[in-house]
Amino acid sequence: MRTKIAAANWKMNLNFQQAKDLLDQILASHVHPGPGKKAVFAVPSPFLRIAAKKMKSQDNHHVCAQNIHHKKSGAYTGEVSAEMVRSVGAEYVIIGHSERREYFQETNAMLAEKINLALESGLTPIFCCGEPLQIREAGEQDAFVKKQIEEGLFNLNAMDMMKIVIAYEPIWAIGTGKTATSLQAQEMHKGIRSVLAAKYGNEIADSVSILYGGSVKASNANELFSQPDVDGGLVGGASLNADEFVAIINALQ
Ligand code: PGA
Repeated sequence: MRTKIAAANWKMNLNFQQAKDLLDQILASHVHPGPGKKAVFAVPSPFLRIAAKKMKSQDNHHVCAQNIHHKKSGAYTGEVSAEMVRSVGAEYVIIGHSERREYFQETNAMLAEKINLALESGLTPIFCCGEPLQIREAGEQDAFVKKQIEEGLFNLNAMDMMKIVIAYEPIWAIGTGKTATSLQAQEMHKGIRSVLAAKYGNEIADSVSILYGGSVKASNANELFSQPDVDGGLVGGASLNADEFVAIINALQ
């Protein structure tokens, strides 16, 4: 059985008080992801420590960094390392979100370095992939995503590949209110799984959780998560509202 994950991506939102309030509201709802299910919170770096403290006594709740630097340590003013976020309680890290690829020029080669550092530090990477609108309109999304996966992940050995979570996030669906249909999500997730199977074999491909991201909300989570290859969601906007995100956690199947 693959792990089912509802991952909140707060991006660069909220101040400290607001962050604490939102976490408290979610915890007050007594949402209990059952066995094999997880609620993951990708909070801004300054809030990792408090989030980790609050999640500590909660089963199946985990804290996630939104990014790490691709070098281990050193003279990189303003950057945050894998070891730093791990040492304040993060257990996951988002790697290669499309906003980082676009606004911070992160390449697949850099992302491969980040994945290695994350694994070395004991973090579970959530590796993001997904095509822009013009690629989807040209019908080239499968080849585009395959290349991202090959360049970002295929230097991993089989043992490490099993530790990766993948998030498919079509860029045209992020923050636009335009969700991929459950069929579009299922098709791509199945395609990603067959790319993994060709390299690592069926058993490993079947064990990797593949999340969908892009305008997931309470009203569409059930339908998306009911697809056989959709193992949960990476949720931006809707994760900033406690009721919405709790409903999304409860939609994990
Ligand atoms: P969204 O963002 O849910 O606001 O579309 C998803 C993401 O960027 O991870």
